[in-house]
Amino acid sequence: MAKRSSQFICQECGAVYNRWKGKCEACGGWNTIVEETSSSPLAGPASTRPSRAKGRVFPFESLSGEIKEAPRIPSGIAELDRVTGGGFVHGSIILIGGDPGIGKSTLLMQAAASLAQKGHRVAYISGEEAIAQVRLRAERLGLASAPVELAAETNVEDIIATMSNGVPPTLAIIDSIQTMWTETVESAPGTVTQVRGSAQALIRFAKTKGTAVILVGHVTKDGQIAGPRVVEHMVDAVVSFDGDNSHHFRILRAVKNRFGPTDEIGVFEMSDQGLREIENPSELFLAGRDHAVPGTAVFAGMEGTRPVLTEIQALVAPSSLGTPRRSVIGWDNNRLAMILAVLEAHGGLKLGMHDVYLNVAGGLRINEPAADLAAAAALVSSLSGAALPSDTVYFGELGLSGAIRPVSHMQNRLKEAAKLGFRTAVTPVPRQERNEKFALTPNAIGHITDLVASIAA
Ligand code: TYD
Ligand code: MG
Repeated sequence: MAKRSSQFICQECGAVYNRWKGKCEACGGWNTIVEETSSSPLAGPASTRPSRAKGRVFPFESLSGEIKEAPRIPSGIAELDRVTGGGFVHGSIILIGGDPGIGKSTLLMQAAASLAQKGHRVAYISGEEAIAQVRLRAERLGLASAPVELAAETNVEDIIATMSNGVPPTLAIIDSIQTMWTETVESAPGTVTQVRGSAQALIRFAKTKGTAVILVGHVTKDGQIAGPRVVEHMVDAVVSFDGDNSHHFRILRAVKNRFGPTDEIGVFEMSDQGLREIENPSELFLAGRDHAVPGTAVFAGMEGTRPVLTEIQALVAPSSLGTPRRSVIGWDNNRLAMILAVLEAHGGLKLGMHDVYLNVAGGLRINEPAADLAAAAALVSSLSGAALPSDTVYFGELGLSGAIRPVSHMQNRLKEAAKLGFRTAVTPVPRQERNEKFALTPNAIGHITDLVASIAA
């Protein structure tokens, strides 16, 4: 008999307590702790049997001849494959999170249909929608004829039994993990114990049969994948699907990836025929740009291996408040504070009595320090009321001394900017590249004072 016990588990972060509390000490959430009874968390038919001398060890070097690059199954959707690192890996588990209605089910249906049309066995298990609803969506996407196996099922044991019939599927989609329940655990569906138990069973299935499994996970209001923080550690890759309601485009981003990069993004547009891939995101992010308006600068950024141009907008206005406002969308608050301090200390700007707003147009989130120079240019331009030349891009990292440092992938950034019709780039040029030929003329600067002087002039 498995030992039965009662535990109090935080539904936000999975922390376990032996009595009820109002506030979770681990994540600080209020009223998130729920009593769950479970037979021991690892209970499964296999774990109750004592195994005798079953473990095997392998010398590390003996494996190197057998294991090559993980075999990939390309989904046929280039933007999705870019994020996974070239396709799904056999026997791997991907958790995909995103707000309700962002298009997770749509994306996965498109991927499922694409693989099924190539002759792979693909199972789409919906715990949220009835078969008729899933079919309706497939029809709307023009994919109703794809031989995807559909099931509306929430019991993990039944799902695994169905999938174990015949050849194991190449890809199985579980939409969503929060609706699944397993008989080995007594808690209600959606609780941490259930989610973890169900995920464990599905992971075991994936690893033994070589099926790539995608788990859809809901996110809470602050963007965390709800409940299964624990699941994030169990899976091979965690991918988030974001976007914002005022725009039609969606960004797929790997948060964790055991088999590929985590800095690539996939860009899609939601249309009435499902998600359309965007091959050239720069055109999208620069569309509708206001030319020659003070306070806007174009940043030549990199997302993984792909250059992406975006517009950075700043508004610097006299403040009526005792403590002026600083507000940032799509960038880091602390980075803005640093740039403002450098502009004051070394650029001679007076910003202490001004509200400052910074926005990355189009809803993209930028993490690169290379955006410092573009942000600084937008700020100086807004404060001075002088518009920046509309055929110029900016990139470079700002140091606390006011020095501007070169950044990586200079050639790629310049090439992309030239392709989109830009003529000048304001950026520091690393010493080893001073004699190189560039796709467009870098207007080399080395210090923040050069930037301020060039804009005010
Ligand atoms: P869905 O994939 O159901 O989102 P999720 O699974 O992440 O909750 O997407 C639902 C939204 O997408 C819904 O608001 C309608 C919209 N949509 C389109 O605009 N075009 C389409 O072709 C489809 C299928 C959905
Ligand atoms: Mg859905």
